[in-house]
Amino acid sequence: MAEPKAFVCGHPIRHSRSPLIHRYWLRRYDLTGRYEPADVAPEHFPHFIAALAANGLVGGNVTIPHKEVIAGLVDIRTEEADEIGAVNTIWFEQGKLLGDNTDAYGFAANLDQQAPGWDSADKAVVLGAGGASRAVIHALKRRGVKDIRILNRTVTRAETLADQMGPGVSGHTIDKAAEHAAGAGLVINTTALGMEGAGELPLDPSLITAGALVTDIVYVPLETPFLAAARAAGLRTADGLGMLLHQAVPGFERWFGTRPEVTPELRAMIIADLEAH
Ligand code: ATR
Repeated sequence: MAEPKAFVCGHPIRHSRSPLIHRYWLRRYDLTGRYEPADVAPEHFPHFIAALAANGLVGGNVTIPHKEVIAGLVDIRTEEADEIGAVNTIWFEQGKLLGDNTDAYGFAANLDQQAPGWDSADKAVVLGAGGASRAVIHALKRRGVKDIRILNRTVTRAETLADQMGPGVSGHTIDKAAEHAAGAGLVINTTALGMEGAGELPLDPSLITAGALVTDIVYVPLETPFLAAARAAGLRTADGLGMLLHQAVPGFERWFGTRPEVTPELRAMIIADLEAH
């Protein structure tokens, strides 16, 4: 049998760390297989997908700007993909193309590793109402967090998302962040605001309840200004790099047949690469 070939497809794709992650696991488990980046513009994307099997590809990752389009091109979506409305991992099963969204899994698995017990929180504040926020809220609901407050600059977006996510989820303006953060055991930033040079903090961490866990899905820089301020305020923090590493696990297992582990060595390798670029 030919060696299994998988891909990550986006536009642009050169910043993707997925090839580093999957090639590390291929080496670590001594497996034959390949994982290649593919820069595919939106107008060529449907053809790229239609030609996967003919090109000998067993599946891959799909990233920006194709994550929503691919959800409409696969034959079968997982429940996660349906609820999140986007697909990031595809593979073949009995001739059918399947699509999953592993971001919610990655978010939860990262916190399981970095902050066990995180899901005992009753109340969570989620900053931002974009695609990443959807995956985070899905994970929070799955883990039984009862009161989830989405805070967003554009309040209508927060309200619409809250309606879609169902009972226990509410949408609010970000101006009242401190009010909503009171008593929350978890605060998650999904906006680009925590990134270097991306402007002021979405919420003053000194107003967050003591003992809360603060996390950011942004991982460049690894310790975002938001996380640094939370740490300085004495709060527990978890960075977002683990979400990237853990979301890759289910795809690798489907394409290459081995469930890989997120190890300190893998994490160190990706951090070294982030620092070098
Ligand atoms: P993603 O899919 O990565 O979540 P997105 O869909 O573009 O990206 O969403 C970005 C999120 O960051 C949104 O919640 C956005 O707020 P708006 O809905 O009001 O645009 C938030 N965001 C981005 N820049 C922001 C800024 N300067 N101030 C406040 N929120 C910001």
